[in-house]
Amino acid sequence: MKIAIGCDHIVTDTKIKVADFLKAKGHEVIDVGTYDFTRTHYPIFGRKVGVLVATGQVDQGVVICGTGVGITNSANKIPGVRCALVRDMTSALYAKKELNANVIGFGGRITGEFLICDIVEAFLNENYQATHENEALITQIDQMAHNDEVIENQDIFNEFIEKWDQGFYHD
Ligand code: RB5
Repeated sequence: MKIAIGCDHIVTDTKIKVADFLKAKGHEVIDVGTYDFTRTHYPIFGRKVGVLVATGQVDQGVVICGTGVGITNSANKIPGVRCALVRDMTSALYAKKELNANVIGFGGRITGEFLICDIVEAFLNENYQATHENEALITQIDQMAHNDEVIENQDIFNEFIEKWDQGFYHD
């Protein structure tokens, strides 16, 4: 698989370990930086990974900052990116299976590198289940990124809320 990986200066060492792990597993890794510990800003690298994923230049992305919060939010601002910040295996597998997440993110100061590597490997090996429900949910989520109405129109989900109230959806 072709994988883009990016981080901020807080966790460059962790990012290098994860990149080396992925290369050892036979993946082609594009490391978009940062490459050292000089102060920088995580949105730069969240965006770089997100753009490579959204434009189809890579298959999947991995982003890491101190907590994971900043860089995953940044990646998620790129239309077409579905980035999951995870700290456990269950969430990572859910993200791929149900949401078809294409970027996975971690807090390198929160989660240890061994666990990050195990979770990334499982995430890459998991398959998306393209059920009607998953497809519909992903369409709803992706459409928000291209739609100014999402801010202007407070009623954007009314149709779904009404259907929910009518018992249309079943768990
Ligand atoms: C450092 O910039 C730190 O704020 C960052 O790595 C991250 O923890 C943000 O979510």
